[in-house]
Amino acid sequence: MDGNARSTSFRVVPMLAGQPASYLVKEMQNYATGKREDVSEKAAMSAAVKGLSQQDMEDIAAFYEAQARY
Ligand code: HEM
Repeated sequence: MDGNARSTSFRVVPMLAGQPASYLVKEMQNYATGKREDVSEKAAMSAAVKGLSQQDMEDIAAFYEAQARY
């Protein structure tokens, strides 16, 4: 929920907390357009971001950028 990913040996998810908002927006766009290959289970990643507006992506990115890593 706060972007502090806890990957396990069978499920690898990236750390979103504290990443620059500009990078997070760019990667969400890349998933939405298919520019970045979606290797997540059942392509859940691109499905999650496809319906988001530019403003949604910027809001989400600002939230994760502001989260402290622990
Ligand atoms: C609105 C919801 C979501 C947002 C905002 C989001 C955001 C992101 C971002 C920004 C990245 C790139 C991170 C990086 O390059 O460091 C990413 C990667 C990833 N996401 Fe999501 N995500 C969402 C939903 C999901 C869901 C539902 C799943 C699967 C259940 C998922 C699985 C993954 C995986 C496995 C990767 C890494 C894929 C790879 O190694 O290339 N995401 N996500």
